[in-house]
Amino acid sequence: MITKPKGTVDITGSDALLWEYVNNVVSTMMKTYNYDFIRTPIFESSELFHRTVGETSDIVRKETYDFLDKGNRNMTLRPEGTAGVVRSFIENKAYAEPSVKKYFYNGTMYRYERPQTGRLREFTQFGVEVLGSNDEFIDAEVISLQYNILDALHISNLQVNINSLGDAESRNNYREALVKYFTPKIDNLCEDCKERLKTNPLRILDCKVDKDNEILKNAPKTIDYLNKESKERFEKVLKYLDYLDIDYEVNPNIVRGLDYYDHTVFEIVSLDSDSGSQSALGAGGRYNKLIKELDGPESYGIGFACGIDRIINVLKEIELYKEIKKEIDVYVMYVSEEEKLYALDIVQSLRLNGVVCETNNMNKGLKGQFKEADRLSAKLLVLLNNEDLKKGLVTLKDNVTKEEEKVDINEIVDLVVSNL
Ligand code: HAM
Repeated sequence: MITKPKGTVDITGSDALLWEYVNNVVSTMMKTYNYDFIRTPIFESSELFHRTVGETSDIVRKETYDFLDKGNRNMTLRPEGTAGVVRSFIENKAYAEPSVKKYFYNGTMYRYERPQTGRLREFTQFGVEVLGSNDEFIDAEVISLQYNILDALHISNLQVNINSLGDAESRNNYREALVKYFTPKIDNLCEDCKERLKTNPLRILDCKVDKDNEILKNAPKTIDYLNKESKERFEKVLKYLDYLDIDYEVNPNIVRGLDYYDHTVFEIVSLDSDSGSQSALGAGGRYNKLIKELDGPESYGIGFACGIDRIINVLKEIELYKEIKKEIDVYVMYVSEEEKLYALDIVQSLRLNGVVCETNNMNKGLKGQFKEADRLSAKLLVLLNNEDLKKGLVTLKDNVTKEEEKVDINEIVDLVVSNL
């Protein structure tokens, strides 16, 4: 038997219903915030991720799915969505348009990680990227959009952990402080951290091996190294979040595992969920340097991404969602070949009028069809039999109250629509 690759999932049955539910809430909310859907390729040239996510990030060092295509080009399955959206913004010169670009996306990402609950090798993110505005209001809008989507999904006790990495000057000052602090202590950290001290000391702070080490816990905090402008900027973002009534906590330990961030960075968790270390349902931040670094013009960017697989895990912990089950509007019943022709016609007319319906497609007898209709939780039944059909009649039955009446076949679609 061929089985699915390690770290991937099949989304079927009740999980698929939850999946659809999440996607509906996400796209409705994205539209109300005026975000436009964008779809970028699942694979991109490897260089894109080296230059955005960063050579020193764990993702690029250890987790990307890389391959040479038949033309000997280095390709990578996208580990995240930001890089592709920014590439598209530059390549399509969207920066030349007069308004801020507000994009949302939804798609699979690939990271070669050690699979565990909430950590997959193929996973799905929905996310947004806003390009072209440095207004602190946009930082607050992006964070509140992420918060409000999770809230609309009834995920309780949400908390945004927020921090600021500041501008280039603040980040340099902070980098120096980290080097000064870690250099005499480096022998007590893991081999990777020794390397990180030379390449990107910020990375030490989100080391998975040393995360509980006291040395990390007592390390200098970004927030103490922000220059005046960066500090004022961060305070404004927090003020706007207060106005929007978003629960947040300033957490200096949020430094994020991707290289492109500056200023605002954040993660969102549900304090009620027991998903432990994989508790971040979403995360994001500002990346004002990135567009220029990818050969675009001076511009600004900020975004977030949420893991749908993790959201589904949390939803399954909530009682309410055990109730979500499949339901159809109408089940059309027939037995003979002659009745079947009428059934085909009625089913098509109902479907074209937006009615969710099903019919007997396994040659079942009447008893089997009643059972099937119950299994699908059909609200109404339409019963066809030859004698009634000759008189132009069909039976419409309420599958809950069990009341039934014979009605004109030409009126069946209108009657069903008005009964739902
Ligand atoms: P990230 O923190 O790497 O950020 O991922 C965002 C979210 O994707 C995580 O909080 C988690 O819910 C989900 N996720 C990440 N890795 C996995 C995995 N292996 N299995 C299941 N879920 C996972 C980014 O990807 C940035 N691009 C976010 C961003 C957008 N920053 C700016 N714009």
